[in-house]
Amino acid sequence: MIIAETIAQVREVIAGVRASGKTIGCVPTMGGLHEGHLSLLRRCRAECDFAVVTIFVNPTQFGPGEDLESYPRTFEADRAACEEIGVDLIFAPSVKEMYGEENLSWVNVEKISSHLCGASRPHFFRGVCTVVAKLFNIVTPDIAYFGQKDAQQLAVIRRMAADLNFFVEIRSCPTVREADGLALSSRNQYLDADQRRQAVCLSRALERARQLVASGETNPGAVIAAMKEIIARESQGRIDYISIVDNELLQPVARIDRPVLIALAVHLGTARLIDNITAAPAKK
Ligand code: PAJ
Repeated sequence: MIIAETIAQVREVIAGVRASGKTIGCVPTMGGLHEGHLSLLRRCRAECDFAVVTIFVNPTQFGPGEDLESYPRTFEADRAACEEIGVDLIFAPSVKEMYGEENLSWVNVEKISSHLCGASRPHFFRGVCTVVAKLFNIVTPDIAYFGQKDAQQLAVIRRMAADLNFFVEIRSCPTVREADGLALSSRNQYLDADQRRQAVCLSRALERARQLVASGETNPGAVIAAMKEIIARESQGRIDYISIVDNELLQPVARIDRPVLIALAVHLGTARLIDNITAAPAKK
């Protein structure tokens, strides 16, 4: 397994891989790898000849007062996990290597980025898209893997790749959960034992929403009210948003008459947790 810290080194390795006609897969991450990430890595390993993992805590997607400094950095454990899965190349650049002295060019995906997580984290998707665009240009993957856990990020990146003609296929991977339903996230480690118990209210609220929709509820307001009730009853969480949106542009729907994305963000202690599911209405 090659560990590269510079763009030049990655380009050199990739040129050799390309010349031998191999397919290249890429899993962009911020490290702190857990089973959710590892499911993406394993799929990339299985589906591509050459598997690249990028590990970069991207400062431009963190806002002032967010957890950039405290974000988990566990390179040795990440390296060992990648090695075990059979990753071919880890790209772990410094901030200077990725952004130079000053970065003046940014990628913005309008409309899809502006609400849900974009409303409370206004710089977030600009930072994500910019760094993912850079990583695509450096690694030039045939296929890139993203988790459904971050459904809005996935939708935004799909759109960016289509609009800007990136020659890459975006594949989405299902959310990996703890036994009680909590979606795995690097930020779960900010929870104390009591908050960890409460955190299951996110997936429970989503499960209830799925049941309501499947049993014929078409009013998004009624579904959201039922979800709020579960979160209020089972936790001290502060809701950032609960939204029921269409699957492509992620715009709120007035009526649930086709498959929808139900997404939420909840603050629990210092952690901001997100989760989502897709739900399909009952067949008539
Ligand atoms: P990070 O939070 O490290 O996540 C890397 C990838 O792992 C993302 O595609 C995310 O959706 C996926 N992932 C995280 N938890 C998951 C889970 N429980 N189940 C399945 N997949 C999961 O997302 C980012 O990093 C960054 O924004 C990045 C795209 C790397 C740009 O900086």
